[in-house]
Amino acid sequence: MSWLPGYSVLITGGGSGIGRAVADRFVTEGASVAIFGNDAAQLAEAAAGSPDPSRVLTVEGDVRSSADLHRAVAATVTRFGRLDTLVANAGIWDFQRQLTRLDAAALEATFDELFSVNVKGYLLAAEAAWRELVKTRGSIIMTLSNASFHVNGGGPVYTASKHAALGLMRELAYELAPKVRVNGVACGGMNTDLRGPASLDMGERSIGASFAKKRPDAPPPVIPLHDSSTDPRDFTGSYVLLASREQSGPITGQAISVDGGIGVRGFGSPAGGDHL
Ligand SMILES: NC(=O)c1ccc[n+]([C@@H]2O[C@H](COP(=O)([O-])OP(=O)(O)OC[C@H]3O[C@@H](n4cnc5c(N)ncnc54)[C@H](O)[C@@H]3O)[C@@H](O)[C@H]2O)c1
Repeated sequence: MSWLPGYSVLITGGGSGIGRAVADRFVTEGASVAIFGNDAAQLAEAAAGSPDPSRVLTVEGDVRSSADLHRAVAATVTRFGRLDTLVANAGIWDFQRQLTRLDAAALEATFDELFSVNVKGYLLAAEAAWRELVKTRGSIIMTLSNASFHVNGGGPVYTASKHAALGLMRELAYELAPKVRVNGVACGGMNTDLRGPASLDMGERSIGASFAKKRPDAPPPVIPLHDSSTDPRDFTGSYVLLASREQSGPITGQAISVDGGIGVRGFGSPAGGDHL
């Protein structure tokens, strides 16, 4: 039994990482998906590798452009007839660059670039999509982060952007109710291609490189489920749940943390059950 039969979904940043994993999973659950991103080659590869390429549409554009996002919504509705779910997901990271390691000019440029992708990009996507979502009593799912709740998952710019996205999710859940539900999935560390701001010369730097560099004898991450997966495919279940009207119809304004239990870390050791 599939959970999203006939759903039509638009995913920003759907060409790689968690966005691509969600696109593949949604197709497996019976949905058709439009994947939107700023890298045409990456989008083509993701579409070709989908479990059913005939149910995937690619749209090239930038989440900082309202016109691009309106074009993506229109293309999705033209191709699939409706829009049930928007996954606002495209984002960049600051590689935990601390305030004291940023001069004023770099800070200004990084803030403007990162907030315009991570916060304005989500808001513009919601603006482009809400009219179609009202028609279908659809929903918006935002990719949030452990950095929406806790410190040190980023530097101040990324952490502030993900706290802002949490606030945006809650505000829109109020403003779009009762017709459209708005929720979030707050992901923990995942082995993806997450990049940094060009303003910090980090446009080509990928979080995946740090996972690749990790030595086998490196200490485990300091989270209770420290042996849990970092494969983005293992983070997709909450997106399916929140997209499904049947399974989560009464849920709005909520973030599901999929982060290995960061909020229940202990002091002496991160996990209390290591002796079990
Ligand atoms: N990787 C992690 O550890 C982690 C943890 C928590 C949250 N997240 C969040 O997950 C989301 C997806 O990131 P990911 O880790 O899958 O990285 P990723 O780089 O693999 O995926 C991000 C996608 O967004 C696209 N993108 C970036 N800027 C864009 C723009 N201006 N316009 C259009 N597309 C753009 C990229 O091309 C890419 O396809 C982000 O919001 C990120 O903050 C990631």
